[in-house]
Amino acid sequence: MGRIPTSAWGRLCANVRPAGAIGRGLETGGAPMGPEPPDLLEDDFMTQWIPVAAQADLPEGQALAVEVAGEAVCLYNLGGTVYATQDTCTHEDASLAEGYIDGDCIECPLHQALFHIPTGEARTAPASVNLRVFPVRVVAGSIEVDAGSMSTAP
Ligand code: FES
Repeated sequence: MGRIPTSAWGRLCANVRPAGAIGRGLETGGAPMGPEPPDLLEDDFMTQWIPVAAQADLPEGQALAVEVAGEAVCLYNLGGTVYATQDTCTHEDASLAEGYIDGDCIECPLHQALFHIPTGEARTAPASVNLRVFPVRVVAGSIEVDAGSMSTAP
């Protein structure tokens, strides 16, 4: 297991119950002292950055289809910032990488629905379901997508 992100330590500490609280629970027959805190660390430990393309393969204003953990993903370069969404349109089966970037939106090549790239929001009909968006980063000229988010991204 890799290094624990700094942000995870704060949450880890927040989940630790003071010794007195544990003692009081045992004195009352071990009765629960309230709901268990959510397992906030799980997402941090599931992060799995996968290199998917060279930064040079995604010029500014372009989209690029790649596959991550068996899923079609579309990368976008908007003004030097890279974004990642699912590649398949939520309306029907079209690759958004073959669409047209219009500002910060991608227009589906099949029926021209518009999706906001940074958030995945479906902006125009006929699409009404948002795209899934994935964490993406650029490290030493390599574009990496968090494959650990594939099963949890909305
Ligand atoms: S397939 Fe994308 S809008 Fe219809």
